[in-house]
Amino acid sequence: MVQLTLPQNSKVQKGKTWPKPQGATNLREFRIYRYSPEEKGNPRWDTYWVDMDKAGTMILDVLFYIKNTIDPTLAFRRSCREGVCGSCAMNIAGRNTIACTKGFDDLPGGVISISPLPHLPVIRDLIPDLTNFYAQHAYVQPYLKTDSPTPEKEWRQSEEDRTKLDGLYECILCASCSTSCPSYWWNGEKYLGPAALLQAYRWLIDSRDEATGERLDDLEDPFKLYRCHTIMNCAQVCPKGLNPAQAIAKIKHMMVERVS
Ligand code: SF4
Ligand code: FES
Repeated sequence: MVQLTLPQNSKVQKGKTWPKPQGATNLREFRIYRYSPEEKGNPRWDTYWVDMDKAGTMILDVLFYIKNTIDPTLAFRRSCREGVCGSCAMNIAGRNTIACTKGFDDLPGGVISISPLPHLPVIRDLIPDLTNFYAQHAYVQPYLKTDSPTPEKEWRQSEEDRTKLDGLYECILCASCSTSCPSYWWNGEKYLGPAALLQAYRWLIDSRDEATGERLDDLEDPFKLYRCHTIMNCAQVCPKGLNPAQAIAKIKHMMVERVS
């Protein structure tokens, strides 16, 4: 049974308002989700005032500005700063995306809230627990599976077949899509979610792969694939412009084709 309200100890409470930077004339207010497992008490919204003349241009720059000049305890993930590792995904102004490529110009006016990707357990501050997400990725076996003898050189692929992977291989596993999907929120343990299914399709249509039937068998149950109801949040939020819902629809089509 789905629980529709947050348990008491998960409700986010008003937190601390940090002092404004002295002498700044171009201030912007950010409200950031804070949670520490060592501290007793609920998560909270802390308020920070950021000097936009000094903070850089991206939301990740703001987080660094806060960490380096206001509050060193703020925790968040990041690595590449170039939109390729997927580790800085979070919810910014109500929308999942990656912080390092999210510029201020794209944001609405007023206070900007930043919280972890929704509907995942929180480890600390903006860091969600992605254990289940990665297990689902592993479940689809995202690598080449073959029965043929290994060629002396590479597994060859025509240019035309290679282009079929465009719009799929670019996924950076940021989890923005899966955690924006209501079906995934309610059935995240059983429904594989848009990110894992996009990867499943990427290998299903790889001309070099020889495990298509086995891969489809692994998706054939009422939850793993069929909990997608084409809500399309996944395609709306993907920072790489991918369309997991379309990939899922194509897997469903393959399922129908193999029984007809
Ligand atoms: S499909 Fe897009 S939103 Fe989903 S994990 Fe991949 S890059 Fe992130
Ligand atoms: S830090 Fe790598 S995608 Fe943002």
